[in-house]
Amino acid sequence: MDYKVADLSLADYGRKEIELAEHEMPGLMAMRERYGADKPLAGARVAGSLHMTIQTAVLIETLTALGADVRWATCNIFSTQDHAAAAVVVGRDGTVDAPAGTPVFAWKGETLAEYWDEAEKVFDFTDADGNAVGPNMLLDDGGDITMLLHKGVEFEKAGAVPGQDSTDNEEYKEVLRVLARSLENRPQHWTNIANGIKGVTEETTTGVLRLYDRFKEGSLLFPAINVNDSVTKSKFDNKYGCRHSLIDGINRGTDVMIGGKVAVVCGYGDVGKGSAESLRGQGARVIVTEIDPICALQAAMDGYEVKRLESVVEFADIFITTTGNFDIIKIEHFEKMKNQAIVGNIGHFDNEIDMAGLARIPGIVKDEIKPQVHQWIFEDGKKIIVLSEGRLLNLGNATGHPSFVMSNSFTNQVLAQIELFTKTDDYPVGVYVLPKHLDEEVARLHLDALGVELTELTKEQAEYLGVDVAGPYKSDHYRY
Ligand code: NAI
Repeated sequence: MDYKVADLSLADYGRKEIELAEHEMPGLMAMRERYGADKPLAGARVAGSLHMTIQTAVLIETLTALGADVRWATCNIFSTQDHAAAAVVVGRDGTVDAPAGTPVFAWKGETLAEYWDEAEKVFDFTDADGNAVGPNMLLDDGGDITMLLHKGVEFEKAGAVPGQDSTDNEEYKEVLRVLARSLENRPQHWTNIANGIKGVTEETTTGVLRLYDRFKEGSLLFPAINVNDSVTKSKFDNKYGCRHSLIDGINRGTDVMIGGKVAVVCGYGDVGKGSAESLRGQGARVIVTEIDPICALQAAMDGYEVKRLESVVEFADIFITTTGNFDIIKIEHFEKMKNQAIVGNIGHFDNEIDMAGLARIPGIVKDEIKPQVHQWIFEDGKKIIVLSEGRLLNLGNATGHPSFVMSNSFTNQVLAQIELFTKTDDYPVGVYVLPKHLDEEVARLHLDALGVELTELTKEQAEYLGVDVAGPYKSDHYRY
């Protein structure tokens, strides 16, 4: 089995944490119980790109328990938990000398070049006769492997050589390098792979945005399920997950007292709401920035001050970006921040903070305090602390969301994989969300663990509301 992880000897530690996580992931364990015998994913070759954490290990092993063949890379250079990666490779029945699990290509602290090299490897399956074959399903977080595949097809269609047009974007350069290499002596490599893909299930807001863009411009090559917009994903993982893991990252990175500090949260969507609550829970005085009047009004009604970054940048202590947009914290902001201000991002990509611009400030020095924690020292001695080099700090400085909330997200992922793989004809190219009854089912699977007593509708009440006793209970436009 091919794989690339930091250290297989961490597998025992990983396995113990996976077993703890399984207890906290009732949705995924219910999927194993319900579908383990029928194996609806038999024949599925799932190429996965998603933070290689303990919770993801439980997801991967659920997919394989349902019959899938899986290859996995991370979707972020800092988020891998090396013990989780090792345990997945070794598998339950393997040993460090004879791993028998799932091929994983991920370790904490990859370079960007390594990141894209490993991302490409999730496409290299082998069939039962040992022939090279592509995946037939993608499971993506942020859309990087979906993008790699689409770009490859575009270059093949155009008969162009990747990398001939120069570009300033470092990240994109690596994509082009990998594509150029992949095309050597392999005509129509990506087109052949794309033709075999039944669909992609996408985890996060930013990846979903990319999918809708592609669909609108007519370039989406296969159907997609938007897992993010299941209510039991974005209204839970993005919100309650970040409520847990944002301060975990700040604490592990800096151990600074949060209570009493002024914290600015840029963006008050689902991630922003969880992040603001996370900081307020510690006693920070939280200020929100927003561009959307509805979210700005929500923040104000939730009791936060809503200001422009420019009005508060000089006195705030902590800055967190949550927008999924770019250029939120720029050089002019860094220049005005006070000494030892802490800056971090919890949105998917690092372009929310102008890290390249920061590095270009004349006389500035980047000093590593520890991995993923740097102080940037200005010529006059002022220091700004930047977490995870501007990449998602809850996964770079801490261990991401806890298992229970990820069980909700990943149960949606498993249902979406089954849906696209087994009912391919029901999904012409487009972007879909899971039907509401499945969303409600995901929630239902997590109630017992919390001792929730759900009230049952009487037949008469159900008729009065115009719903079925068994659900769905809300219309599709209900917003929760
Ligand atoms: P969202 O769309 O619900 O919220 C983003 C908010 O930012 C919106 O309300 C928008 O109006 C606001 N915004 C946009 N530009 C802005 C600007 N210039 N200034 C101030 N506010 C601005 O998206 P969601 O679900 O909250 O996700 C945000 C990001 O976090 C995405 O990149 C997503 O992929 C990522 N994410 C990260 C997670 C993590 O564990 N770190 C978990 C889930 C999502």
